[in-house]
Amino acid sequence: MTDLPHSRAFENPYAALDRPSWRAIAQALRNNALASFPPRAFDDMAVGRSFAGRQQIILNEPEGIRHVLIENAGNYRRTASVGRALGPVVGRGLFLAEGSDWRHQRRMLAPAFAPRMMAPVAAETARACRQAIARLQVHRARPVELFPHLQLLALDVAAATLFSLDITAEGPPLRAAMQLYATGIGRPSMLDFILPRGWPTPRSWARWRFRRAWMRRIARILAQRAQRPASAGERDLFDLMAESGVPHRERVEQAATMLTAGHETTAVALAWAIHLVAAMPDVQQRIADEVATLDLSPVGAIEALPRLAYTRAVIDETLRLYPPAFSLVRQARAADMAAGIAIAPRAVVLIVPWVLHRHRRLWRDADTFDPSRFLPGSEPPARFSYLPFGTGPRACIGAQFALTESTLALASLVQAFRIEPLDHEPLQPVASITLQPDRSPSFRLRPR
Ligand code: HEM
Repeated sequence: MTDLPHSRAFENPYAALDRPSWRAIAQALRNNALASFPPRAFDDMAVGRSFAGRQQIILNEPEGIRHVLIENAGNYRRTASVGRALGPVVGRGLFLAEGSDWRHQRRMLAPAFAPRMMAPVAAETARACRQAIARLQVHRARPVELFPHLQLLALDVAAATLFSLDITAEGPPLRAAMQLYATGIGRPSMLDFILPRGWPTPRSWARWRFRRAWMRRIARILAQRAQRPASAGERDLFDLMAESGVPHRERVEQAATMLTAGHETTAVALAWAIHLVAAMPDVQQRIADEVATLDLSPVGAIEALPRLAYTRAVIDETLRLYPPAFSLVRQARAADMAAGIAIAPRAVVLIVPWVLHRHRRLWRDADTFDPSRFLPGSEPPARFSYLPFGTGPRACIGAQFALTESTLALASLVQAFRIEPLDHEPLQPVASITLQPDRSPSFRLRPR
């Protein structure tokens, strides 16, 4: 495939062994999980292997995915290793809750993510973008690392929309603490995968200490909100939890879940989108043409959203090639059959957007960035081949929030600046808690 102005190949840089030993898989999982997916996973509809004495299946078969994530979702839970790595950051909020506790939480929180809440999301995104653009104007024509700005922007939008909080002061130390955790004791170790649920690992103590300090930090942020009366407009997450009588500790843990899940993934999606549009000036120009006459102010943003079809297609295609949530991991409670595949009790089923989205039988020119796939009128992707937000009862509760925010943020940044790359080497994806770029490159921003 030759590169066209509006499309370009961004290949999978990881050619892992086709049948890696479990030691090789463990090493890859510790360093960069993307290297643990064998090349045949991108051609076959299911790949089975044994890892740490347990059956592990990489599942691409649409019927199997439907079965595991929707039809028999109750038979599958998050693995102990996901709980160990994420628990200290997200506590027992919605992401890690199970069973009736999860159902109760999901029902209580849903109104904060209803379609009518997209107007406040759009307005807060527009406001936060204005502030970020004002800060970035200072750098005009000088090299600037954009990614840290995008992380603070996404955190600002999450805190303002979900908790009516201004997080300007707490944002940078919060990000720094999280980054330290994700690159240090939060990284999974071999024992995280092997030891049964509930057993301590050598990192448990350090993680427990992190958790205590982290939750105290979130509690201090939430305390500012508690001092104020209920919000005047739409009820935010804080109001919903207060009305439902959620105890203090659980409110703090839910806030930790929502602030983390609500900004980390969106920020990384935006980082990849900026990298891609900076590398493809024609794509960027087409976004600039689309937004040139649109009112992207806090008042106009929600009205502008339906007119951002191309910008939205760029976001959709970014989420295909670089899905922030690169793997959905489930463990079977009991034996099961999914699309004719026998699943043993305690088997780990991996439904991997990183693999699915680049699968050669499911996508034409799978490694090519081509936003036209997602333009209105294009043929929709094959069933269950595109899952940036998962599917079924545990699909992302913030999917519409994230799409509204990232589309408007990309539109606003391109409306304000011509974004030029200064580092011309393609960024490599690295699987941390989310799919991160391997470095934070500098860009030059020229006001339009
Ligand atoms: C581009 C941005 C985002 C991506 C790619 C993303 C992706 C995902 C995925 C794939 C899942 C399902 C995981 C699984 O099935 O194992 C998920 C769950 C979740 N997401 Fe997102 N997400 C994004 C933004 C957000 C935002 C903005 C929020 C909140 C404001 C959020 C909150 C959550 C929560 C709480 C869950 C757990 C839901 C449950 O288990 O019931 N996410 N996300």
